[in-house]
Amino acid sequence: MNNAQTSRVFSGIQPTGNLTLGNYLGAVKRFVEMQNSGIETIYCMVDLHAITTWQNPSELKAATRELAAGFIASGLDPEKSILFNQSQVGAHSELGWVFNCIARMGWLNRMTQFKDKAGKNRENASVGLFAYPTLMAADILVYHATHVPVGEDQKQHLELTRDIATKFNNDFDVNFFPITEPVIEGVATRVMSLRDGTKKMSKSDASDMSRINLTDSAELISKKIKKAKTDPDPLPSEVEGLNNRPEAKNLVNIYSGLSGLSPQVILSENGGRDFSKFKPDLAELAVSILTPISNEMTHLMKEPDQIDKILGNGAAKAAKIANPILEQTYDIVGLIRSK
Ligand code: AMP
Ligand code: TRP
Repeated sequence: MNNAQTSRVFSGIQPTGNLTLGNYLGAVKRFVEMQNSGIETIYCMVDLHAITTWQNPSELKAATRELAAGFIASGLDPEKSILFNQSQVGAHSELGWVFNCIARMGWLNRMTQFKDKAGKNRENASVGLFAYPTLMAADILVYHATHVPVGEDQKQHLELTRDIATKFNNDFDVNFFPITEPVIEGVATRVMSLRDGTKKMSKSDASDMSRINLTDSAELISKKIKKAKTDPDPLPSEVEGLNNRPEAKNLVNIYSGLSGLSPQVILSENGGRDFSKFKPDLAELAVSILTPISNEMTHLMKEPDQIDKILGNGAAKAAKIANPILEQTYDIVGLIRSK
């Protein structure tokens, strides 16, 4: 990514369930890298997106605080990044409404995440779940964010964000919203399930053995890695040898994401070894990185008031950026704002 062209980074994660290793490698670890490279960074717990499917109210509050703790424990610093929960900044929803009037039904009908989440019974999905991507576009564009780090699964939503910005600019003959760049980089943009190398590792998978949660104990992390599905062959020495071996590829990619070594370097060192030898090394690496994060999360979670204060301060900073952009949007659209 070219820093010189970057003015602002925004990303969000839903506070539903635990943060997984997929969220960590695909998103949070890169949020931290961007923060530390000195770019202006805004990271949001998207609680309004969470309620597009049913959430138990007290669990939602707990999950939002836990996500905040996960962000901070992973290295996001409230002094360097703006950290807040979406519902505390009303401008997201307000711009989301305007975008509901820009986006077309046909565009939203094509969204694969809606199809996946709504399942067979689409008539029974919430209207919010259908409109999810317009609120996501508002999250990003209400800050005029230029870059959005996400995992591979969010690519289609970011294309829609660009379509909304383009249509708005064309409809009103302005050059107001930036055409945001997705930042989908690295080997771990799609961490797969430990039980099935063709399925994404997900918070919502029925089997807890399919994923590593940031809150898992060292023993559980080791157990999950040792029980991870693999094929019977030893590791290849070249990256090409991972083709058509989704589980092997996934474990090498996870090792790569955690260690920062390229898959080729890992295979040069491990080619010919059996998974029974490689997995304990991977487990040790995962534990060494995730246990300090998990310990820090437990520590932070003991002070929920402190977390709420951080979110409130972050929301106030976020609103200062978002409100003037919302005001200008209303003006462009022709909505009167009394002085
Ligand atoms: P979510 O948990 O769906 O709110 O996702 C939060 C962020 O984590 C998004 O940027 C996702 O693209 C990313 N993410 C979720 N699951 C994975 C995965 N298995 N591999 C890589 N990135 C992921
Ligand atoms: N849709 C994203 C996900 O499921 C979460 C999200 C909401 C988001 N708003 C966003 C991500 C804005 C990036 C930018 O992972």
